[in-house]
Amino acid sequence: MNVNKKTVKDVDVNGKTCLVRVDFNVPIKDGVITDTTRIEGALPTIEYLRERGAKVILCSHLGRPKGEVNLKYTLKPAAVKLGEYLKAQVTFAADSIGAAAKKAIADAKPGDVVLLENLRFYKEEEANDKEFCRALSEGIDVYVNDAFGTAHRAHASTAGIVQYGFVKTAVSGFLIEKELKFMGGALDNPKRPFVAILGGAKVSDKIGVINNLLEKVDTLIIGGAMAYTFLKAQGKNVGASLCENDKLDLARELIAKAEAKKVKFLLPIDNKIADAFANDANQKITGGDGDIPDGWQGLDIGPKTIELFSGAIKTAKTVVWNGPMGVFEFENFAAGTKAVAEALSKTDAITIIGGGDSAAAVTQLGYADKMSHISTGGGASLEFLEGLELPGVACLNDR
Ligand code: 3PG
Repeated sequence: MNVNKKTVKDVDVNGKTCLVRVDFNVPIKDGVITDTTRIEGALPTIEYLRERGAKVILCSHLGRPKGEVNLKYTLKPAAVKLGEYLKAQVTFAADSIGAAAKKAIADAKPGDVVLLENLRFYKEEEANDKEFCRALSEGIDVYVNDAFGTAHRAHASTAGIVQYGFVKTAVSGFLIEKELKFMGGALDNPKRPFVAILGGAKVSDKIGVINNLLEKVDTLIIGGAMAYTFLKAQGKNVGASLCENDKLDLARELIAKAEAKKVKFLLPIDNKIADAFANDANQKITGGDGDIPDGWQGLDIGPKTIELFSGAIKTAKTVVWNGPMGVFEFENFAAGTKAVAEALSKTDAITIIGGGDSAAAVTQLGYADKMSHISTGGGASLEFLEGLELPGVACLNDR
């Protein structure tokens, strides 16, 4: 995928009506946004457009309301939060197309900001319906995509309105530009040694990512529950640990590929195990053979593994991390994930955190500002690391 795309800086937006696709799919509890990272991520683009006299019309999805109006998923709280950040009025339009949207857009003056209601109240959004694209693009001069978190979706607002030719000028915002710069830079031209750390529950979720990264990295570190599938494939006893028994051959193939490509493939050498899936279960560390006795399950990497992984991070010049090393939500099994985050916070290497759990871990531990880049995309950053084309990027004007 060509990632050399035009940005808002490459077009004249003065007096223009810009439809900006943002990813305001933020967690909301009792009407309160509990993680504002994605809203903050969109601010530079919004502020830039306002300062240059554009009418800024924002659109987004929130949750999965499945094509029906469901006010549990209204974007209204996001409009309020955005207004606080901008210290300006953000007009909330109660619909993403039709009369309410048209009126809000018509009333907006250069520098004004409008947020349209949840796009996914229409099933046509995810279906990438042509007529919905036409309606969404009415009165729009410039399309700006800054929704990296949704760039892997080929929906009306992420790709359709450009693909159908309803808006000709289509550029990225600063958030997508930054995501492409860091993740694209790591994949295409990394400073070496390049180390990738993958964690999480299942190998099957990350086959494509492992395959693609084995073509690029010098060292691949595997932690989290997916490590047990690899350990079992190597003949270790993994006890009652989470393990994908139907993926053992695949695990062996990936290990063989690493050998063929001369990629160092690091797996846990000891584990923190428990006799039940609970924070207060009986727990101990496995010995040097790494074997897990029957009835016990691995819930975190052990201290020798922490040392091994931290050592690899120390010598790296580029590190990409996606997925926790253990059951991070249990305090007693969070040490591995914390140690990786800490090692990343201390290195001078370029550190890139894939979205989702690892991003949350780094932020919760207070290391966010020590990282070179924390992706705002979960699924999108995984697909990007997998080497797949992201429709929300592919549709933008080339440089
Ligand atoms: C995300 O949170 O990963 C994005 O906003 C995409 O949401 P979706 O998986 O519902 O398309």
